[in-house]
Amino acid sequence: MSKYNIQVFTGDYLGSGTSNRIYINLIGKIGSSGQHWIKTLTGLWAGSEQLISVHCKSDIGDLLLVELEAKPVALGLIDDDWFCSKIIVTTPEGVSKLFPCYCWMSSNKRLSLREAVAKLGTKDTAPELLAHRQDNLKRRRQDFRWGIYAEGLPHIVNAESPTELPPVVRFSFTKEKEFLFTLGAAFKELKLGTEFNNKDRWNNIGELSSLLSEKKKTTTTKYVEKNWMRDDFFGYQFLNGLNPTMIKRCSELPENFPVTNDMVKSSLPEKSTLEMEIEKGNIFLCDYKRLNGLQGNEIDERKQYLSAPLCLLFSTPENKLMPIAIQLDQKPGARNPIFLPSDNEKDWLLAKIFVRGAEFNEHELNFHLLRTHLLGEVFTMAVLRNLPSCHPLFKLLVPHVRYNLQINIMARNLLVSPDGVFSQYTAIGNKPMTEFLKRAASSLTYSSLCLPDNIRERGVEKIPNYYYRDDGLDLWNIISSFVHGVLSFYYNDEDVQKDKELQAWIDEIVENCFQEKSKTGFPQSFVTVEELSKFVTMVIFTVSAQHAAVNNGQFDFGAWMPNFPSSLQCPPPTRKGDTTDDTILKTLPDVSTTLNIMAVVYLLSRESSDRYPLGYFPEALFREDIPLDLIAKFQEDLRVLDKKIEKRNKKLDLPYTYLSPKNVDNSIAI
Ligand code: FE2
Repeated sequence: MSKYNIQVFTGDYLGSGTSNRIYINLIGKIGSSGQHWIKTLTGLWAGSEQLISVHCKSDIGDLLLVELEAKPVALGLIDDDWFCSKIIVTTPEGVSKLFPCYCWMSSNKRLSLREAVAKLGTKDTAPELLAHRQDNLKRRRQDFRWGIYAEGLPHIVNAESPTELPPVVRFSFTKEKEFLFTLGAAFKELKLGTEFNNKDRWNNIGELSSLLSEKKKTTTTKYVEKNWMRDDFFGYQFLNGLNPTMIKRCSELPENFPVTNDMVKSSLPEKSTLEMEIEKGNIFLCDYKRLNGLQGNEIDERKQYLSAPLCLLFSTPENKLMPIAIQLDQKPGARNPIFLPSDNEKDWLLAKIFVRGAEFNEHELNFHLLRTHLLGEVFTMAVLRNLPSCHPLFKLLVPHVRYNLQINIMARNLLVSPDGVFSQYTAIGNKPMTEFLKRAASSLTYSSLCLPDNIRERGVEKIPNYYYRDDGLDLWNIISSFVHGVLSFYYNDEDVQKDKELQAWIDEIVENCFQEKSKTGFPQSFVTVEELSKFVTMVIFTVSAQHAAVNNGQFDFGAWMPNFPSSLQCPPPTRKGDTTDDTILKTLPDVSTTLNIMAVVYLLSRESSDRYPLGYFPEALFREDIPLDLIAKFQEDLRVLDKKIEKRNKKLDLPYTYLSPKNVDNSIAI
């Protein structure tokens, strides 16, 4: 008779324990133990570790699978789901084998677990394990089906409510409870009063200052309130604000932006010219052409206005980035003046406000929603449908897909639905929003998602004080070295080419992301470990670092409404000299829009207690020494980067903290 010692671990989420009867069956190469009831004196409580022994009358051979089955007590009247985290089996020979589970189990369901050692399909030989692999994918493909969001946009999970998702990808009870996605809750927390329906305009800018209690203001919201009108802070935000990847080096002025040297010479050093500064690489451009021609929304029967500005910036010898010319419409002409810092102060301020309004749309819809949330959803779906749990890439990527499906369903229902926040409180509204997203989706390229390529393509390698770029490249390199290490342990180039599951994964990503696949530069298949490593680095970077960079500062930079207006109530000015304080107040969003957007950016910037920062692998999925050593090195590299950023930030008036690894979540969960 051979004895197997078994440790049964129950998850520590609230409600993880069970009163159901749990049975275990050890399946070996030549036989099985038969079902044994996991009898415990203390029960399978949340966070518990239970020890049991299973005696087999005859040799079962190499242990391949552990099968669990739950049966209800009390004649099936009470079903009590169990969250099993892992099982560790010590064989009669004294070998300890880890079987990760990490999923919920309801009664009359069977779960079959295989050992943690990762395996490529081509290297699996036992028929039982090959069948297990196929069954795993078959179930997931039934659970996660593709759906269409809108034609021309990346595909989504086919579920209209989070309750339609399998429990394994849903929010934990803790997060569900904390995450009261209601504006009412945010209004209460921020003590914003009862004016959420007040359609009046603001009487003066000072009124905005008292909206937030001192307690709720952050270092950055205070800084923004004080400095929002300054040109150097306006320029700073293109580098280190909410949307740090839109600015490009201007090597030639666009034909539709006829800025002359005479217009901008007062902004340039003496004896220099615009041509000379363009040549030197000191002139930059932000072009909001994707917004061109879109009709503004109506809020409470009041017309709202969008503009599609062009903004020229100069990187000064004092290392500041200063706006030097703004044109608010794409078509040049007499009724579309080029505004300059030398203009009347109010004209210039209003022009900058229109740029910030355009920035709201580009940031929230393109750089936040599309380029992180929606792309993350495609990566998630492709992982779940194509990579079995024993696949090394599944183990590597599963921490990075956590909660992405649920948060996106909630965003589709509450933020960008026909009666959602965007329809009610932004100038772009619902229909133009979809058109804008389609335009943005057609600009999605592989290189724009790979930070080192993106920096090169935009020509911003040398621009000073670009902390997003510096911290982002450090993070990219740390992720890349970790990913390359792990993948090189499992793959050589030939393995990559032969791995059908891997090739199906990239195939589904490309198929569900793009209309015109060939033009995006995305790999259509993988040939080398290098190519694969770069792609996986991009996936992890996008859903962790890039999302943190564009998500976490929404309240910091957006709470002060004039810095991030979601809607503008007057058309862009068509001549100079007319703007007054009153024009600016009439143009800015009304009280209701201001308060509601403040509540939204507050909700979207909140930190969950249920978060895992980058580098954490809360589930013990790897068993081999090399991946475990690489995880430890990854965590150490991230700690060192945290310290480096902290040291740099001590010297800054406004610390840049969004890419400090400790502030970067593993996945898109908010
Ligand atoms: Fe987000």
